[in-house]
Amino acid sequence: MDDTAKLILNGQEYLLPVIVGSENEVGVDISRLRSDSGAITLDSGYANTGACISDITFIDGEKGILRYRGYPIEQLAEKARFPEVAYLLIFGELPTATQLDSFRQDLTYHSMIHEDMKKFFEGFRHTAHPMAILSAMVTSMSSYYPEIDEEDEYRNIVRLLAKTKTIAAYAYKKAIGQPFVYPKNSLSYCSNFLHMMFSVPAEPYEVDPVLEDALNVLLILHADHEQNCSTSTVRMVGSSQANLYASIAAGICALWGPLHGGANQKVIEMLTMIQDDGGDLKKYVDKAKDKDDGFRLFGFGHRVYKNFDPRATILRKAAASVLDRLGVDDPLLDIARQLEEIALKDEYFVQRNLYPNVDFYSGIIYRAMGIPTDMFTVMFALGRLPGWVAHWKELRDDPKGRINRPRQIYTGSTERNFVPLDQRG
Ligand code: ACO
Repeated sequence: MDDTAKLILNGQEYLLPVIVGSENEVGVDISRLRSDSGAITLDSGYANTGACISDITFIDGEKGILRYRGYPIEQLAEKARFPEVAYLLIFGELPTATQLDSFRQDLTYHSMIHEDMKKFFEGFRHTAHPMAILSAMVTSMSSYYPEIDEEDEYRNIVRLLAKTKTIAAYAYKKAIGQPFVYPKNSLSYCSNFLHMMFSVPAEPYEVDPVLEDALNVLLILHADHEQNCSTSTVRMVGSSQANLYASIAAGICALWGPLHGGANQKVIEMLTMIQDDGGDLKKYVDKAKDKDDGFRLFGFGHRVYKNFDPRATILRKAAASVLDRLGVDDPLLDIARQLEEIALKDEYFVQRNLYPNVDFYSGIIYRAMGIPTDMFTVMFALGRLPGWVAHWKELRDDPKGRINRPRQIYTGSTERNFVPLDQRG
């Protein structure tokens, strides 16, 4: 591989350094292009732009590979627990037994939110979308837990991971009008969340290990995905040296959109709509292909995966197994499978390399677990927290880090003179 690329602009040659990653990904470094030539590059939607160099996650979209810090997602989903994956992503290596014990203990002992913060929930309407509550509450944490010295960085990371699940469960309790349930220190990360979601006072609640295992896999599969929309948002906000909570809250807002994490809610709404409309799958596949119709097949397509999304492959199997173990018979799973089968054979989807993504089957598992549809994106956010934190920390720890500030090609009016109001037509 050449170590420079050549660009000829207006007859002038510019040599641009070539950067090769550890998995042989090639990038042309244009960071001096504007100062040397006056030109910038233009890449709408950043589909070809490397915004940073990162050690955290590797994806090969053509081969359907996803690895966190080198470890294949399939191995992590099968063998690891979410706290150790969080540790791996944030600190770079799998924890030793002692490190994991202490990290788990920190995640447990920081689960409660400040009692005053509970009052914030009174201000939200009971119909508030839980993502609105989650983002507002995560930003509010910065007012309770400011970062003053270096040790606070670690403390705030564990506070964020521990307390966000409590906030998420409280958002659900608020929506259904039940009292908040405090976390229990004897429970694991996933069980504690399920306990806060589903316990009611005066009735004993035992966490079903099937639910705990299902949640563990879902959180691991969502834990990081390199420079996606929400992670890039976290990096963008973090690059101004905004605090951890503010940066993560921005990521939560970016995740909410239906083209990103909000797609899991949309998938179930879409499958329900198809079911209610008599199950005519072809009609909806045709609608998705019609460029004059705004309808898209939610849970299909991905910016990076052009073969298959390895997370969707794992979840497809997991959905069947979880429903089976829980004894749930959900007709939406059949509709999803049939829809997938039709779309995968359809020329439109084949030509465009559109495959089910992580959101296609996750909602079916959440439904079987008793999690309501508008909480699905919150579940995604809980899983994505360690990834966001890892990227925020990587950026913070980079002594050469700069504020993110893209350029543009301006296409508006050229200079013109102001026209006073009484002279405008
Ligand atoms: N249904 C129908 N057509 C689609 C779909 C879909 N789900 N996804 C892409 N296409 C079509 C586009 O219309 C476009 O067609 P064209 O070439 O004829 O214009 C072509 O496939 C390429 O799609 P783009 O929108 O250019 O792809 P992009 O990389 O910009 O978008 C995205 C990726 C946002 C995921 C898109 O596939 C989509 O909207 N999917 C549905 C929403 C969804 O499931 N989002 C979750 C993604 S995973 C995640 O964020 C966790």
